[in-house]
Amino acid sequence: MLDYATPYHAPVLCHSVADRLITDPDGVYVDATLGGGGHTHALFDALGDEARVIGLDRDPEALETATARLESAGYGDRFMPVRGTFSDMEEVIRAEGLQSVSGILMDLGVSSHQLDDGQRGFSHRLSGPLDMRMDQTSGEPASAFLDKMDEAELARVLRVWGEEPMAGRMARAILRGRPLRSTTDLADVIREEVPPHKVSKSLARVFQALRIAVNGEMDELRRALEAATSLVAPGGRLAVISYHSLEDRPVKRYLRSGHFDGEIRRDLYGNALSPWRDVTRGAIMADETETATNPRARSARLRVAERTTCT
Ligand SMILES: C[S@@+](CC[C@H](N)C(=O)[O-])C[C@H]1O[C@@H](n2cnc3c(N)ncnc32)[C@H](O)[C@@H]1O
Repeated sequence: MLDYATPYHAPVLCHSVADRLITDPDGVYVDATLGGGGHTHALFDALGDEARVIGLDRDPEALETATARLESAGYGDRFMPVRGTFSDMEEVIRAEGLQSVSGILMDLGVSSHQLDDGQRGFSHRLSGPLDMRMDQTSGEPASAFLDKMDEAELARVLRVWGEEPMAGRMARAILRGRPLRSTTDLADVIREEVPPHKVSKSLARVFQALRIAVNGEMDELRRALEAATSLVAPGGRLAVISYHSLEDRPVKRYLRSGHFDGEIRRDLYGNALSPWRDVTRGAIMADETETATNPRARSARLRVAERTTCT
């Protein structure tokens, strides 16, 4: 089996995605989280000669890297890179004169390259500016975000998006420690608040919560799922890979029912009215061979649904 990993990023579950997402070998597909282009490359390898892929990313570095890769793989003329957020997917696709597409992939979160570059500020293991923006040309870095927050708001962010059990205490300590300008400044505050054996989990939770908040990730996800319902043609598919339960929960509910509460609406006769039909019946996870070489694959959950004719 071909391996699509590059030093930029090692994509997870590539073959499972290509096997389940493709329904029309010559259709138009959207990779809404292009990253290093690994999944797009795998899709092209599995697609026919007429197929096209639109690759979307908010990070200009990802677009540049993936475009070079796909051009050198010989797919440049059928690949279209687009810079933007996936919540704007509907406008982007319509602007291309397309009313619908055959399939959409969303591989959530950040790439290994974004995490491994200290200057991006995503990792508590690397020192760098406290930034955390996927697109460093817009919005506010995490440091400015923290400057403006009050204790209650920050505690809520840490509790809801970091599932941090000591959210209130951590929020107080972070506000006391301001201004926090680097990842090390933030990590030092957290280290002082928790016993040594709990430090690494707390660091991970606080950094995750801030990253989600800075990039508006949950709102982006919900809007993108709704956009996918408008864009995928009946019989086409949507594949989503998530890496933690906060992402996976809304995906699971939405792909079952077309609603974020997960409730399947029914007509007078009891027929389900969902715009999506679950194809994977639960989540697909990476096997041991993949998790042995790619630790990131351990938390990956792939869900695929097929667009029904319901609106
Ligand atoms: C996990 S990586 C994708 C890796 C990719 N599948 C590959 O094979 O290399 C996620 C990518 O999605 C991008 N991204 C995350 N949220 C986004 C959003 N709301 N809009 C556009 N791009 C987003 C990130 O910048 C990152 O490059």
